[in-house]
Amino acid sequence: MSTGAVGRAYPRLEGPAKVTGAARYAVEYPVDGVTYGWAVPSTVVRGRITRIDTTQALASPGVLAVVHHGNAPRMAPGPQPELRLLQEPTVHYRGQYVAVVVATSLEAAREGARLVRIDYDTGPHSTVLTDDHPGLYKPDQVNPSYPTDTAEGDFDAGYAAAPVRVDVTYRTPAYHNNPMEPHATIAQWHDGRLLVHDSTQGATPVRATLAELFELPPESIRVVAEHVGGGFGSKGYAKASVVLAALAARHVDRPVKLALTRQQLFGPLGYRTPTIQRVRLAADTDGRLTAICHDAISQTSTIREFAEQTAVYTRSMYAAPHRRTTHRLARLDVPTPFWMRAPGECPGAYALESAVDELAIAVGIDPVELRIRNDTAVDPDQGRPFTSRNLVACLREGAERFGWAGRDPSPRSRREGRWLIGTGVAGSSYPARARPSSATATARSDGSFLVQINATDIGTGARTAIWQVAADALAVPPERVEIRIGDTALPTAPLAGGSMGTASWSWAVIRAAQALREKLRDGGPPTDEVTAEADTTEEVGEQPALPRYAYGAQFVEVRVDADTGEVRLNRMLGVFAAGRVVNPTTARSQLIGGMTMGLSMALHEEGLLDERYGDWVNHDLATYHITGCADVESIEAYWLDERDDELNPAGVKGIGEIGIVGAAAAVANAVHHATGVRIRELPIRLDKLIGVSDLA
Ligand code: MOS
Repeated sequence: MSTGAVGRAYPRLEGPAKVTGAARYAVEYPVDGVTYGWAVPSTVVRGRITRIDTTQALASPGVLAVVHHGNAPRMAPGPQPELRLLQEPTVHYRGQYVAVVVATSLEAAREGARLVRIDYDTGPHSTVLTDDHPGLYKPDQVNPSYPTDTAEGDFDAGYAAAPVRVDVTYRTPAYHNNPMEPHATIAQWHDGRLLVHDSTQGATPVRATLAELFELPPESIRVVAEHVGGGFGSKGYAKASVVLAALAARHVDRPVKLALTRQQLFGPLGYRTPTIQRVRLAADTDGRLTAICHDAISQTSTIREFAEQTAVYTRSMYAAPHRRTTHRLARLDVPTPFWMRAPGECPGAYALESAVDELAIAVGIDPVELRIRNDTAVDPDQGRPFTSRNLVACLREGAERFGWAGRDPSPRSRREGRWLIGTGVAGSSYPARARPSSATATARSDGSFLVQINATDIGTGARTAIWQVAADALAVPPERVEIRIGDTALPTAPLAGGSMGTASWSWAVIRAAQALREKLRDGGPPTDEVTAEADTTEEVGEQPALPRYAYGAQFVEVRVDADTGEVRLNRMLGVFAAGRVVNPTTARSQLIGGMTMGLSMALHEEGLLDERYGDWVNHDLATYHITGCADVESIEAYWLDERDDELNPAGVKGIGEIGIVGAAAAVANAVHHATGVRIRELPIRLDKLIGVSDLA
């Protein structure tokens, strides 16, 4: 780290290519003889296809094929059964893709899809999660591999004995990821080899999945994801789009472009599970927590168990002698839930950080102070000290910047005309992990360097961050470094997910750069190219199992119309401790992006499922509301200058997810402070607060 590229606000490298339209997203690559696929969703929830009539579709101009379970290329079973599409006539949820129409134009494919006639036998279904659902069960573990339940001390006794208690239940609806770029793929088969351009967070895992499904060696598959227009978790693994495109291309023996529509993203690609969360907190009269219990209920599908780690946040955030967490799942006739920014931690923190606010009121202690009193240097879950934990510093700096001091804790204590004004706070934490990666670094005879790694930039600025890290590790100005990412032809690397990308990729890039400098010890550019490679599998695997987390504190001021219940955000301010910040410009975007999604979760987003219809009724951006620019009047993100040498060579903790964690609770807590009304079921729509003048 000698030349100091890390920490500087470089504009993102691909910025000019993106704004001039030169950057290519998955389906923008020109391909000779390309055809177009259009996915056909099932119109029943649960049942079996009894007949597919493709006569009309095949007679429609331009239609080349209708691919369905009766004629589709066969795929092997894999670890993601929801991806074994078009293999059998069974329908597991409404919207499951049951056919693909391939045509010479997009319009012809769409028209063909309209003309496919499908008959089904159907049976009764269950699609709505309730806290008394008869199918509730205890999974063996929760994602990615946490114990389902934990217990320390004696929660029941500790809770019963405490002088101050809260027992509250929060509900969150399904949330749908809406990246700007939908899931989209071009698939091409050449002599038994498969080339796909896919919109994904990780070309390496997509290749692995396709290799399993099509029973090919991974070397026979190339996945390119050079530019990706957002993912938020929804593109964390291979999804239906890439599988359908590959199946269709094999069937028609021509390249196939398949882009899902906005409406088709709602459900079959995965969504954040609804949750029902009961939180019980007990404290002594000084506000010191004595008992904590978090019982979380969420849903999965009949195809695959997806057990979100909703209560895991509570295991490590605040200490108490008596603690318990549980997870229960219901298997419903719905698409399999999947990741959405901070899966588990985000909804879990909404519940816990809301309950802590309720406890602060019950015990009469300021909610910032209450959190400071319950800070812990030792992870209550693992019993070991955190590598670094700067929650208190975030709370103090946030309170200072926000102007928290002197806040009147009484609800409804500020009014400006028709607006009730309130402020709220929440804590935030997210694990700081890394995965093994590999990379190469090449010195060229002209004095420039090439760094190659199959990292993915899903719009975060990852490409630029790795380039900065590489320049410092090579001890050269970054202008002399070229970076290539987003292609399985490059050295294998993990996906952009779990806030692990920069930590994992930087690790391999730094090691490759160090190895190259060893090779070039005599100095000066080589006469021929010299390449060094690194693989961090062993080194990452040897890391001691220390509790590593990023922290944050979220502060929010809202105004609520006393008559209509309309909630508006006045300002939102977050302070984070996330290790070294590689690029302040892109880091700020990640943090305020996460905070904005938390605001969206609190006030706007809601997947509404109709049990009769068995599907979400709001399938587009007109009816599924997402926070827009006009909803965010002021938003600020700051970070502490945190150094933590236990983490990884780049010293980063990851910032993709910490910004959303706690944000919804801070909004909800501010709404309560403004109105005196506690809405425990998100989103906080105006109809829940209408006439709030008379509600409190
Ligand atoms: Mo993110 S939900 O870890 O892709």
